[in-house]
Amino acid sequence: MSEKEVAPTTALVIDDDPEMILILRHSLTTHGFEVLTAQSAEEALSAVAEAPIGVIILDLMLPGMSGIDFLKRLKSNPAWRSIPVIIATAKESAEDVELALAEGAHDYLKKPFSNIEFLARIGAMLREKKLRDKLENSNTELLRLCQMKDEFLSMVSHDIRTPLNSIVGFADFLLEAKMGDLNEKQARMVDVIKKSAKAQLSLVENLLEVARLNSGRVVLRLRQADLAGIAQECYDGTRPSAQKKNIEFVFSARDGMVPVMVDDQRICQVANNLISNALKFTPRGGRVEVNVFREPTSGVLCIRDSGPGIPEEEMVKLFNRFEQTRIKATAGESGFGLGLAIVKNIVDMHNGQVWVKSRSGEGSEFFVQLPLKEIASPD
Ligand SMILES: Nc1ncnc2c1ncn2[C@@H]1O[C@H](COP(=O)(O)OP(=O)(O)OP(=O)(O)O)[C@@H](O)[C@H]1O
Ligand SMILES: [Mg+2]
Repeated sequence: MSEKEVAPTTALVIDDDPEMILILRHSLTTHGFEVLTAQSAEEALSAVAEAPIGVIILDLMLPGMSGIDFLKRLKSNPAWRSIPVIIATAKESAEDVELALAEGAHDYLKKPFSNIEFLARIGAMLREKKLRDKLENSNTELLRLCQMKDEFLSMVSHDIRTPLNSIVGFADFLLEAKMGDLNEKQARMVDVIKKSAKAQLSLVENLLEVARLNSGRVVLRLRQADLAGIAQECYDGTRPSAQKKNIEFVFSARDGMVPVMVDDQRICQVANNLISNALKFTPRGGRVEVNVFREPTSGVLCIRDSGPGIPEEEMVKLFNRFEQTRIKATAGESGFGLGLAIVKNIVDMHNGQVWVKSRSGEGSEFFVQLPLKEIASPD
């Protein structure tokens, strides 16, 4: 243990044996510690309340309040919880030591112990504490930065959304020839402007959505709904996209109604994301199925496609934000790798599960499982 490392540390020695206090005080002061002493747990608690303590050496057998009770008091106070404590045991049983360690003591030494071992253990404990403190500080800082980043993202996205909406609106206006007819070339250009602005708008909407979901501010509007009905609505809404790519697009609800307690708009968002992925990554002339069925305690939505499948090594990152695999859209559709992250977030909020079965070259099947209404809420 280097002098520099331990110099500013205050050690509190708690022992009812004055001779032991003398020995430990001598050993610690000669190695640069400031030393405070207490002969009872009560006295020690006052010392801890008065001055910042770097390390505590605690005898378990104390008159009045026991060493274990002292530990409990110390560890129940958030301001004192991280002070490292080393137990100096004499006649205590292994159970006592085990209990002290379970209550948050960091280490123990059996009396009589050598001066070298005592100082080495304290040094190791302090080094560990330093690392722990550093880690905690970095974590706190990371959380703060992450929150700042989400707030910034959501602020910027919000501000970008307004002009993008105007661009889409005015492009529509021009395409509908409200300001006079456009020639073919002009109409094509305005159409490109509209499509590009819409793609950016969808990115911005997804960014805002991810930030909202991550912040925990989203509240579900739960109500009884039919999973088959929700899926069918999404299926109907996405048929034009399937037709454009000449994809055979089928819907089935083999068990009829599937009662679930959900926020239907959010579940629709889940279904739309999965269907749009299936249509996006399946080549022209392929097949996409939307199936809904019941299992004993859950309703399941399954979107199956005959697309390229997902390489096994890329499966782990599918549901992470901004992660895309090497599988690319087949007709120039846009995307930023946010859809599946949003899906996972919403399904988790419903206490459901989402998973995928896929193999390279053999298509993909995405499953969403939600608790049945009878199970989720028996009333
Ligand atoms: N049905 C699928 N078949 C093959 N690959 C898929 C399928 N669904 C998703 N993927 C892969 O997973 C990646 C992540 O999907 P995700 O929906 O999160 O993002 P995206 O569709 O690329 O963009 P966004 O959803 O933000 O528009 C996709 O980029 C694609 O590589
Ligand atoms: Mg997607």
